Amino acid sequence: MCGIVGYVGWRPARDVLLGGLRRLEYRGYDSAGIATVTPGSDVVDVHRAAGPLDNLVRVTDAEPEPEGVTARTGMGHTRWATHGPPTDRNAHPHRDASGRVAVIHNGIIENFAALRAELEADGVELESDTDTEVAAHLVARALDELGPDDDSAGFTTAVRHVVNRLEGAFTLVFTHADRPDEIVAARRSSPLVVGIGDGETFVASDVAAFIDHTRDAVELGQDQIVTLTREGAVVTDFHGDLAPTRPFHVDWDIAAAEKGGHDFFMQKEIEEQPAALADTLRGHLVDGRIVLDEQRLSDQELRDIDKVFVVACGTAYHAGLLAKYAIEHWCRIPVEVEVASEFRYRDPVLDRSTLVVAISQSGETADTLEAVRHAREQRARVLAICNTNGAQIPRESDAVLYTHAGPEVGVAATKTFTSQVVACYLVGLALAQNRGTKYADEVEREYHQLVASADAVKEVLATAVEPTRELARELAESKAVLFLGRHVGYPVALEGALKLKELAYMHAEGFAAGELKHGPIALIEQDLPVVVVMPSPRGRATLHAKLLSNIREIQARGARTIVIAEAGDETVRPFASVLIEMPAVPTLIQPLVASVPLQVFSAEVARARGYDVDKPRNLAKSVTVE
Ligand code: F6R
Repeated sequence: MCGIVGYVGWRPARDVLLGGLRRLEYRGYDSAGIATVTPGSDVVDVHRAAGPLDNLVRVTDAEPEPEGVTARTGMGHTRWATHGPPTDRNAHPHRDASGRVAVIHNGIIENFAALRAELEADGVELESDTDTEVAAHLVARALDELGPDDDSAGFTTAVRHVVNRLEGAFTLVFTHADRPDEIVAARRSSPLVVGIGDGETFVASDVAAFIDHTRDAVELGQDQIVTLTREGAVVTDFHGDLAPTRPFHVDWDIAAAEKGGHDFFMQKEIEEQPAALADTLRGHLVDGRIVLDEQRLSDQELRDIDKVFVVACGTAYHAGLLAKYAIEHWCRIPVEVEVASEFRYRDPVLDRSTLVVAISQSGETADTLEAVRHAREQRARVLAICNTNGAQIPRESDAVLYTHAGPEVGVAATKTFTSQVVACYLVGLALAQNRGTKYADEVEREYHQLVASADAVKEVLATAVEPTRELARELAESKAVLFLGRHVGYPVALEGALKLKELAYMHAEGFAAGELKHGPIALIEQDLPVVVVMPSPRGRATLHAKLLSNIREIQARGARTIVIAEAGDETVRPFASVLIEMPAVPTLIQPLVASVPLQVFSAEVARARGYDVDKPRNLAKSVTVE
């Protein structure tokens, strides 16, 4: 939610910033802007434009830098609006009245109204409706109060004074016209990472913004301030003391963040799922035992767990629903799954023997992060499943399992979803081995079945994608689509409906097929497309029979039945208007293969309707506000 990039170095800043914003656009695309600092100039130059990044590019192209002048310091922002509509005026960066201080921001300054009133009482006129602008005025005022500044830390000191007055979750980056070789950034909750290059330094919400230039990065912690110069970065805490940092090397390269010949990122990411699954599982079975990535809990503490809550949002919540089937089945512990935004506010019963599994690809989703904090306050143990190394949620957890899906740029989660599902299963196996509810050879057998799922997904990609695309084009003008499933097919139905809603802006609902007769059947009408996820006729014969009667009921009412079923399941053929076949796999693996055609379906309907598949309206990839 909002992408930030800052640069101090030797390259033309405009090029670095626009290139960085291009890679961060998935974080927000309501408006974009850059600020550049040219030595000798009295003001920070700002260019902003509402709408997608291309609008900003047009603005900067129309106003090139004067002959012989090239700014080599600056910052850029791509916005997902919270306060104030997405207009040019509300686009970041914002400046103080003198134009010397500029700021960009990701997050929410919760006490901005009081600060705004204070500034207005002082005669300051604010230009925008945003919560952000107050920070520029406050830093300018703090600099004035510090007096003539021959102390090189003055800019950082002013920022520190201001951020200590702010409430909420924020990442702020400041530039100053008098400091053409310096940027100061502050982080509380919203992500920020520093890139260290040769004679150049970067700061960004995501390493993708500077991966073209360096893969050496430093992770910033909560409540830290970083001062960037060409020589590197100095990190202090909000009291001004030097803070410990964690350098790391980014283990993927630029190719992973590019489309690689695909029409859109989501298509590439759907196809990357076999590799994402294999990479997520790799190395987690050591000497016959499942190992997590980080475990700050003893084996005894894990053994003492008597209840599991899974908390997550959106697609990650659907992965959590699948975790319940596996963990209860393997571990015989009760598992509750809840959307993070509800969990936190309803006073759940938690104690030291509760394990809260927080699932978040970004690791920065505000609702999930707050649920984690609430759980920890109640002394529950927290295990994070996350796709972003060192993000806030894993940092605040007692144990971590990383998914290795690589960067996911398409706003709709695909490869991170299936990777989360296998990660949840690994957690289930780890708990089962720990509690002794599964023998070592059973754990090993389950693990190898998970590993084999990558091949099954490969197979479904080879066989189901083209027919699904064709079907999607045919159904692109439908008013609505329903999705039905039972058992593990139910979360798949929910996920299929969510994908279609978010990408194709089409009414879509997922139901537990058993609920059909309790209400939703009233929605069935002539030619309504209904997608049904069938269980295996072998593994789940009773459920299969029940779902078969559900299909007959909807077919009898004139609906168009699109059935996803195991290859060779001939019983279903007479009742399927369209049959999409998937390879035969064990029950818990089925969601991994059945989700693939549904991902393809939603992307293709969106494309056929002329929508931007990677950047659906009103959405952002990571939601860092509640
Ligand atoms: C849907 C989607 C969202 C996310 C949700 C949680 O395709 O991507 O529903 O799953 O916003 O995000 P993370 O996993 O980053 O916490």
